[in-house]
Amino acid sequence: MPVPVSVPVPLPADVAAAADRIRPYARRTPMLDLELDGRRVLLKLEYLQRSGSFKLRGALNALLTTPPDDHVVAASGGNHGLAVATAAALLGRSATVYVPVTVPEAKARRIEAAGARLVRHGATFAEAASAALDAAARPDHRFVHPYDDPAVVVGQGTVGAEIVADEPSVDTVVAAVGGGGLAAGTALAIAGRAVVAAEPEDCRCLHDALAAGKPVDSPVGSVAASATGAARVGEVAFEILTAHGVTSVLVDDDEILRARDLLWEECRIAVEPAAAISFAAWLAGRVPGKRPCLIVCGANADWTAAG
Ligand SMILES: Cc1ncc(COP(=O)(O)O)c(C=O)c1O
Repeated sequence: MPVPVSVPVPLPADVAAAADRIRPYARRTPMLDLELDGRRVLLKLEYLQRSGSFKLRGALNALLTTPPDDHVVAASGGNHGLAVATAAALLGRSATVYVPVTVPEAKARRIEAAGARLVRHGATFAEAASAALDAAARPDHRFVHPYDDPAVVVGQGTVGAEIVADEPSVDTVVAAVGGGGLAAGTALAIAGRAVVAAEPEDCRCLHDALAAGKPVDSPVGSVAASATGAARVGEVAFEILTAHGVTSVLVDDDEILRARDLLWEECRIAVEPAAAISFAAWLAGRVPGKRPCLIVCGANADWTAAG
């Protein structure tokens, strides 16, 4: 049985409202109908979103449902941090993003270039997140969680809403999972169709939660860990994912890297490893359905580094 959550669980109508809210600021990303070795699959090219990932959608919806003078706080050296910084800039809001001192320079630079105040704090992400939560506890501050926040979940769901609006024949959507915000939002948006949650073997918090019947801590490894490395699936996401019967499939790191390389070789699509997880699951034959669509969700790799 799902654990009770302390916040209201969003509904499909909330995704439609989020789509209207963020439309002036987010890109409607295109789809590619790909034929490969006699098989067909649709790709939702969400890595072309502003800030380089779908995370902008959730950040925009969170900010647009927060009083305009509130100061926005986030903790993330990755796609969420960049998305919050970008959303704040687009909306003319002030934001502070906490990162650990170990954050790669390229990522820190992008967050600062987007206009946010960057605070380097602590050796680990957990220390940075705890400082961010302390700062956000002050009045008129809004902490934007990367996935366990109903406004963020329904914002991410707008990707799924676009998929079925543009291609009503889609029967299955595959989303990569970190804390489950993207997969849960997609499940709300496309209720009645199947959602497959794809996870790295070494970052499998949803898989472990489904086995345990509740969110549990899981080890975090994988080449995709900088994006999908949540140790525990979000409670809001878990409630939605179980209510919608979402299944989890696993792919290993070799499969993820092969899929990422094939996206480049076949389509000249250059993405980070996490964005190739859904394609890896499809290549391995682990995706059901007659008309699947894979969310190609982020491109914030550091192109000067290997991997
Ligand atoms: C590119 C990419 N894919 C997938 C995810 C996982 O998203 P979620 O935490 O909503 O499950 C993330 C999270 O940062 C990401 O950046």
